[in-house]
Amino acid sequence: MKNNINYILQKSINSHNLDEKEILLLLKTKSIKKLTSSADMIRKKYLGDEVHLRALIEFSNYCKQNCLYCGLQKTNLKLDRYRIKEQDIINLAKQAKNYGYKTVVLQSGEDPYYTIKKMVYIISEIKKLDLAITLSIGEKTFNEYKSYRQAGADRYLLRIETTDEKLYNKLNPGMNLKNRMQCLENIKKSGFEVGSGIMVGLPGQTLESIAKDIIYLKSIPVAMAGIGPFIYNPDTSISHLEKINKNNHFDLSLKVMAILRLIMPDINIPATTAMETLNHNGRLIALQSGANVVMPNATETIYRKKYEIYPGKICLNDSPEHCRTCIESKIKSIGRFISKSKGFHNSNVAI
Ligand code: 5AD
Ligand code: FES
Repeated sequence: MKNNINYILQKSINSHNLDEKEILLLLKTKSIKKLTSSADMIRKKYLGDEVHLRALIEFSNYCKQNCLYCGLQKTNLKLDRYRIKEQDIINLAKQAKNYGYKTVVLQSGEDPYYTIKKMVYIISEIKKLDLAITLSIGEKTFNEYKSYRQAGADRYLLRIETTDEKLYNKLNPGMNLKNRMQCLENIKKSGFEVGSGIMVGLPGQTLESIAKDIIYLKSIPVAMAGIGPFIYNPDTSISHLEKINKNNHFDLSLKVMAILRLIMPDINIPATTAMETLNHNGRLIALQSGANVVMPNATETIYRKKYEIYPGKICLNDSPEHCRTCIESKIKSIGRFISKSKGFHNSNVAI
């Protein structure tokens, strides 16, 4: 009885609490539809039908790190690098505001060109536009996190990627899991809404370790969890590893999202771009499996092809304006609507 999927789903619906063993059984289940429709029901109960849009500005593809799976890794000499100037980043945020976005996500590789002074300037100028600001710029010192928070940034995304220490340290040379966890602690202590998440289907990753990742995300606890399938990039040094699982990890990613929704019923869960890369309806399917956020690309078209974390990224030839209208009609087509609020996890923080 206790190992029965229906029993576990009912338990999660009632208590939003599952142990590692139960999560593992859900990750293994063939009844994916039961799992995703339970998550969809919980999403509707706690958050309604509104979808929050976050305008993604990919402002630099320089990175001093060398994560084996990521196209921005510093040893990828094939990548044409770019940096968007401070004033142009601010102008992109203004444009996003005009398209009706309430949040901008400033994302880049770990690029030391953007000093504390430059970032504080960018953040405080964008703040004047009455936009919520999410940063996704990697591992920084406690001091830097505090400065960015004080300058007006509201949220910070730093995926843990995997909590399997051996795997993390192998895939992220020069970095280590303990330090990344410390960064997430510091982000939280600085007063940000904490966003984290994982990649699903990394070479060497097990379902057991994914169950632990889910428990970890709940223990922080995150206000936002971004889940994306790993997509093999032949221009990265991961191609030198002996064995790569090129399976399509779409369904497994969907399961991870659904489980997170069941055990953290009111957090923000984006329907990620990587999901749409594997399935042309990926974001809508994710929105119907527990997700409630979409992050359309608001970067100018000329830069998009160069922000190639993995191949096959969607919307490479589209403009910010096109993506805005496209996503709106897609969201409406499934009976959902775009939120008019900034979409904070804890609405007390909103003002
Ligand atoms: N496939 C899918 N996602 C990737 N990321 C990095 N490399 C890949 C890849 N090959 C994800 C990481 C990172 C985010 C910005 O992109 O999770 O945190
Ligand atoms: Fe970019 Fe659809 S969201 S073209």
